[in-house]
Amino acid sequence: MKTLLKLTTVLFVTLLLSCGGKEEKKEEGFTYQKKAPAEKSVTKKTDKVPPSKRVDLTTKGVGPITSVTLDVEINSAMAAKGAEVFKTMCTACHRPDKKFIGPAPKGIMERRTPEWIMNMILDPEGMVKNDPLAKELLIEFNGSPMANQNLTEEEARAILEYYRTL
Ligand code: HEC
Repeated sequence: MKTLLKLTTVLFVTLLLSCGGKEEKKEEGFTYQKKAPAEKSVTKKTDKVPPSKRVDLTTKGVGPITSVTLDVEINSAMAAKGAEVFKTMCTACHRPDKKFIGPAPKGIMERRTPEWIMNMILDPEGMVKNDPLAKELLIEFNGSPMANQNLTEEEARAILEYYRTL
């Protein structure tokens, strides 16, 4: 009789313990599942259009360039000079028409203002610090920064003219 009582007690305790354990696990699983979809939908919303594809023709960026005037016709001599500078200073990270270490400049004139582009070329450090779009772009490119190539304003302007031909 004594052993039977002992056995029953042990069984009862084990049952209690295992029951309690199971319930806890269930709860954990449930709250986890509940949280996951909410978090996902938030990131999806903000990531819909990556900064490199986003069209923003209002912001001029932060930097030395506040106003650029483009002639209706492309200045082909200036564009040729720009292509040359681009080839020597930029192709380590940029390919004209496909994403490389940095974004492809093809079509950039439809996405950005000329001022924003020139500020990004002449002062990428300042842009990444102070311009919201440049900040997001840096995140999109996994924090690998656009390098300041110490171009003159004239060289940067020539690259802009070259960009118009892409
Ligand atoms: C060391 C690699 C590197 C070099 C060299 C480099 N860039 Fe970049 N560039 C980047 C990266 C990476 C980005 C993406 C933004 C960021 O991370 O800051 C970028 C972004 C840009 C942007 C913004 C693009 C967009 O679609 O919004 C422009 C414009 C640009 N670079 C022009 C140039 C020019 C012109 C040169 C040459 C004078 C040059 N870059 C040299 C890495 C580089």
